[in-house]
Amino acid sequence: MDEESSDVVRRDRFSGGPARGFLSSMDADERIFEADLAVDRAHVVMLAERGIVTDDEAGEILAALSGVEEAGYDALPDGEDVHASIETAVIERIGPVGGKMHTARSRNDEVATCIRYRLREDVLETLRATLVLRETLLERANEHVETVMPGYTHLQPAQPTTVAHYLLSYEQAVARDTERLLDAYGRIDRCPLGAAAFAGTPFDVDRERTAALLGFGATRASGTNGDASNGSDGVLGNSMDAVSSRDFLLETSGALSNLAITLSGLAEDLIGFANRGHVELADDYASTSSIMPQKKNPDTLELVRATAGDASAGTSGLLSTLKGLPRAYNRDLQRATPHAWETVDAVSEATDVAAGAVATAEWDESSLAAAAAEGFSTATGVADALAMEGLPFRTAHELVARASEAGSDYAALEAAAEELLDEPLDAYVSRKAIEEALDPVESVASRDSRGGPAPDAVRDRLEAVRGGIAADGEAVDELEGAIIRADDALAEEVRTFV
Ligand code: ARG
Repeated sequence: MDEESSDVVRRDRFSGGPARGFLSSMDADERIFEADLAVDRAHVVMLAERGIVTDDEAGEILAALSGVEEAGYDALPDGEDVHASIETAVIERIGPVGGKMHTARSRNDEVATCIRYRLREDVLETLRATLVLRETLLERANEHVETVMPGYTHLQPAQPTTVAHYLLSYEQAVARDTERLLDAYGRIDRCPLGAAAFAGTPFDVDRERTAALLGFGATRASGTNGDASNGSDGVLGNSMDAVSSRDFLLETSGALSNLAITLSGLAEDLIGFANRGHVELADDYASTSSIMPQKKNPDTLELVRATAGDASAGTSGLLSTLKGLPRAYNRDLQRATPHAWETVDAVSEATDVAAGAVATAEWDESSLAAAAAEGFSTATGVADALAMEGLPFRTAHELVARASEAGSDYAALEAAAEELLDEPLDAYVSRKAIEEALDPVESVASRDSRGGPAPDAVRDRLEAVRGGIAADGEAVDELEGAIIRADDALAEEVRTFV
């Protein structure tokens, strides 16, 4: 970029000074270069349709925009931001008529539209990543419906469960993350363009048209966020709100932070399981030490775990930047946006990596089976067996607690019964029932309450989970299709002018 020139907005008066770089968002704006070109095109097409510029003028501007696009971001003249630079480049190419492009708009509605336009794509990509992760968790769960493993509370063996039940617990959490992102998408997908600086415009603009040309409002079709007061036709209803509000960034970052928290727990678990030999990570998802030749370290999962820090940084960056901003536009907003990019980039990549790590990890069934009974993990099941025969659960709990001080076998339970109840254990419950309760496989099989780990209960869930992933996949396809159709239609409109 040419450091000496000034853009058409700043002119000579505001073109220099020590704060020049500080004012500029050119570095961050590369991300919205394509978005800005689309917004410019939609706006110019609408201006021509409304007779605000002539068709010839529109044709010249649209041709210049194609030239700017071809030359690429790095060829833009220096400017305060991508909006001013593109306008400068257009005017450099075709002269003052290029200055008609900015009729009936402001950089305030322009930038807000660009961010929403670009964020839609980024969120769709993250949504796809969540779907892949969920499919992966489901597939692996399907292979391990009967694979018994220790379940933990407070990091201690607590009750046996299965690998499928464990993996599906994360699928459910990620499913809610998908849901939250889809919900946030509905509010990203509204168009500020035509709000101008904040106070609207005397020109007879067609806001519905620019919104449609940019594909805003698709969520109306998919049934989410059809709130009429907030622009169910894709157009934000109040021009001051349209340029001022960035709650869509914050809630998206919040939804992504939730996803990052989910991923961090999954990563932490897998690191622990790998450490104990319960799971073998693929070499692709591990690393080694530069000095200790024997090491295979779970580095990628540690980085997935750490991504919650990036998400938290992005979200708190947004919270503290947006807090207390007065109406309407303030330049602070320029520094809010990169926090959202930071979050979406980090979390999207971590989601991909987590899916890859889960897909390629091998669960060691014998190591898991051996650990499943550790720490008297079947104790609760024994207490349940006694309570099922009529002993008050609290008494059963005490009996098993006493036994656990001596051991975790039938003899220990018998001794505790004599001591606590003054009666032999088999006066309450058969030895067979106790032996079954002590067996981790039987213990898991018995817990067939809805949502529980028994293989039958888990099998009942698999179809519902599969259906949920498919339905969310269709919703994402629909949203992506709406963007693609709008892009094609906009390109078609542009062709009629040039
Ligand atoms: N780069 C600016 C942003 O990201 C564009 C808007 C500038 N508007 C203004 N009134 N100074 O917010």
